[in-house]
Amino acid sequence: MSEPILQVRNLVKHFPLTQGILFKKQIGAVKAVDGISFDLYPGETLGIVGESGCGKSTVAKLLMNLEQATSGEVFYKGQDITRLSGRALKAVRRNIQMVFQDPYTSLNPRMTVGDIIGEPFDIHPEVAPKGDRRKRVQDLLDVVGLNPEYINRYPHQFSGGQRQRIGIARGLALNPEVIICDEPVSALDVSVQAQVVNLMEKLQDEFGLSYIFIAHDLSIVRHISDRVGVMYLGKMAEIGTDAEIYEHPTHPYTQALLSAVPVPDPEAREKRERIILTGDVPSPANPPSGCRFRTRCWKAQDICAKEVPLLAVPSVFADRDTPAAHESACHFAEDGTAAA
Ligand SMILES: Nc1ncnc2c1ncn2[C@@H]1O[C@H](COP(=O)(O)OP(=O)(O)O)[C@@H](O)[C@H]1O
Ligand SMILES: [Mg+2]
Repeated sequence: MSEPILQVRNLVKHFPLTQGILFKKQIGAVKAVDGISFDLYPGETLGIVGESGCGKSTVAKLLMNLEQATSGEVFYKGQDITRLSGRALKAVRRNIQMVFQDPYTSLNPRMTVGDIIGEPFDIHPEVAPKGDRRKRVQDLLDVVGLNPEYINRYPHQFSGGQRQRIGIARGLALNPEVIICDEPVSALDVSVQAQVVNLMEKLQDEFGLSYIFIAHDLSIVRHISDRVGVMYLGKMAEIGTDAEIYEHPTHPYTQALLSAVPVPDPEAREKRERIILTGDVPSPANPPSGCRFRTRCWKAQDICAKEVPLLAVPSVFADRDTPAAHESACHFAEDGTAAA
């Protein structure tokens, strides 16, 4: 296997919680990301899923260096980018781009589409010198399936799906290697979601891109992901290949998320166990001791309150040929299909 393009190690982001207006006093911390590790390989798509508030967008911002990590490392081709600044940071940034969740608010309404897509060239003129820009923007419009003649239009003249195509074109402008997609289709109508996901897959093949594809449920990422990581309250609950996560989920949280995914086949639907998750995600300012999922887990025992379960190959899979394809952080990890 090739070397990972990104290696995330024990990444932590705590936002200070302050009190007082004039004299801010720190009274605690929001543990938005609390020790996350994973790899991203060239050309693959890693899906990251979890309910709202689990820390997914914060992970995305840390990978983009839009937030400063509290601790931990993000290696891009072996170089820790969390401590870079100046020219070295700028060079790395070119290779890691982001597509945002909401195409309605992420595009400046006063800029033309041409200026929006071409804006990254202001920072990196070496990619497209002034004279080539217009042509380059038109090519990008074409690549994402928009009419190059729309270059002088404004965002409000486009539909939601078209606006997300503009966001993607902008993400592609600097020929990046990695694109972090933070819920890129969540704000779109279900009917357009598939079109945008298909476009992203096509672009991935065409340009050899690596994706981190964030979503709040498992149905959207299934189609596009090679591997999937399931996040819960700042931690990785389970991570594995697509086949492993969907066919052999071992973490109760993954099993619960999967049980909410619609199944078209009525017979399969009959056989399936429905797990209803009760309550909300607890506050990341005051997460439960031990396993963070235990307050909503039907398997929880004493040990779950005392010991933080480590992300590791579940013992049920220890005798497999490729155990590393699947890791889970649960004291009572069981093969979800065997249990059903
Ligand atoms: N700048 C910030 N300051 C304080 N808390 C934040 C900040 N950004 C995010 N959070 C908190 O961190 C937690 C994780 O947020 P986020 O990463 O946006 O989750 P997700 O994308 O999974 O919904 C939430 O509780 C959120 O309120
Ligand atoms: Mg988010």
